[in-house]
Amino acid sequence: MKSRLAACLALPLALLAGQAFADGDGVWKSGENVYQKVCGHCHETNIGPNLKGRQLPPQYSIAVVRNGFRAMPAFPASFIDDKALGQVADYIAKSAAPAAKP
Ligand code: HEC
Repeated sequence: MKSRLAACLALPLALLAGQAFADGDGVWKSGENVYQKVCGHCHETNIGPNLKGRQLPPQYSIAVVRNGFRAMPAFPASFIDDKALGQVADYIAKSAAPAAKP
């Protein structure tokens, strides 16, 4: 439980330090890029629930990211701009379910 808490705190603190995860000039390359560099920290590590293969409506993902959702922190436009957020929401909506874990 302690390590989960640490992981949940580490990212928001990194966010305060600026666009620590965007590539190069602070521009996100694609929805997949945002997913891997931001969402994946929690959603590929079982800290957050699996998002892939669930056809989550993009509007839902966008609302969760902007407003936060219970244990999930909100991400402001200064960190993920509207365009990149739209792309990652689209990426999640169309993604295939992850391979079953053995
Ligand atoms: C710091 C960890 C963390 C990061 C980073 C993170 N999330 Fe989450 N997310 C969570 C947690 C934890 C929950 C579950 C919240 C709860 O139920 O209390 C969640 C829930 C969600 C949900 C709701 C899932 C459902 O089953 O209804 C969506 C959608 C979501 N996150 C999208 C995203 C997207 C998109 C990103 C990347 C921009 C992202 N999250 C980044 C931790 C994170």
